[in-house]
Amino acid sequence: MSKSNHILRPRVRSVRPLEKVSTRLTDSPADLKINHAVTPATKPLNCFAAVPRGAEELAGAELLALGICDTKPGKGGVAFSTDLNGLYRANLWLRTASRVLVQLAQFPCMGPAELYTGVHAIAWQDIITPDMTLAVDCSLRDSALTHSGFVALKTKDAVVDRIRESCGSRPNVDTALPDVRINVHLHKNVCTISLDSSGDSLDRRGYRLERNEAPLRETLAAAVVTLTGWDGSIPLADPMCGSGTIPVEAALMAAHIPPGLQRRFGFQRWLNFDHELWNRICEEAEKGIRKLPVGLITGYDLDNRALLLAGRNTAKAGLEGQIHFFHAALQEFRPEGDKGVVIINPPYGKRLGEEEDLRELYCQIGDVMKKYCRGWTGYVLTGNLELAKYIGLKASRRYVLFNGAIECRLLKYDLY
Ligand SMILES: C[S@@+](CC[C@H](N)C(=O)[O-])C[C@H]1O[C@@H](n2cnc3c(N)ncnc32)[C@H](O)[C@@H]1O
Repeated sequence: MSKSNHILRPRVRSVRPLEKVSTRLTDSPADLKINHAVTPATKPLNCFAAVPRGAEELAGAELLALGICDTKPGKGGVAFSTDLNGLYRANLWLRTASRVLVQLAQFPCMGPAELYTGVHAIAWQDIITPDMTLAVDCSLRDSALTHSGFVALKTKDAVVDRIRESCGSRPNVDTALPDVRINVHLHKNVCTISLDSSGDSLDRRGYRLERNEAPLRETLAAAVVTLTGWDGSIPLADPMCGSGTIPVEAALMAAHIPPGLQRRFGFQRWLNFDHELWNRICEEAEKGIRKLPVGLITGYDLDNRALLLAGRNTAKAGLEGQIHFFHAALQEFRPEGDKGVVIINPPYGKRLGEEEDLRELYCQIGDVMKKYCRGWTGYVLTGNLELAKYIGLKASRRYVLFNGAIECRLLKYDLY
């Protein structure tokens, strides 16, 4: 079945609010906590925004800016409490988070039996009907159960058993395009069961058409621009822009375009999806979009193919003609104006021998910033601290960020 068929299929079953359902608490572990408030629009939902490590505080600040105050940034994400309105807006607007989970239940879990009982106690028949599809994602750490595939399978069994007992038939699994994505997280033998409200990871904004060699994740690019403190009032330049992720993310911010405006979300397939509320949120967001002044954001690269992608991505992001790209070597980079922000994401040199070739490039980064970017503030994002030494300038700040598993530094240079 195609994606649009899934999305457009009418949901004819009515949804019973979860608190009216008798969950079989007699089967449940004593410490089982169930969040009965997944469906009603106004009740608080316990949420967790998963965030690339290093960007947790940024995501917390983004939630605050959305008016979601009850936030708790921690390692790898931000816990927060909100209602459906907040959940939709968090998915639409969060630039640094990779997904938003809605917690259903939490219970101690030392083995398969506890896992099955804890999952089975949730009133799944009110969340998933037999004609819907589901998938289970699992992550675990420091727990008695150590095999994520087994935990996902056992969780799926408990979910479909509960639905079969209640409805007479069971839903199928679809790992690629499920109607409901369930997230099971085990940490120190505490199991948290959540619904993934985002569906596809939030860094899939929908504007990246093809991948170049080393594209930056959109969420990381957004984190970098946020950390620079750039507010759209002075120029921003990326002299090694590749497919343009940093300029595009900066432009989305300055133009007040929500990063998720072009994509669909997991919650849009849920039984309780509130079309009216969602349309209102999107319409409001669209009203706030502004056009960027010429010359505000520029990108440069040596590679014509990367520049072609950058142009296409810009157009797909709804920013056609608002970011200007030039074919130029770093050595030729001469920013105009007496102040601005220059952000450079050079290659790191992962393969043997490459690092030596890149030393010269990192020396040039230092030279160009020092000689031709006076009055600007420079930032270099690199995963190679040895190479960073060749920049030869003293960084005034260092931020730790993760590009997937690679620990990176965003280095700040005040250029006088
Ligand atoms: C790590 S990639 C940047 C990726 C980019 N942030 C993105 O999201 O697609 C580094 C880029 O530097 C460019 N590059 C390498 N040497 C260069 C030079 N001397 N002058 C300008 N660009 C260069 C490469 O073509 C490549 O696109």
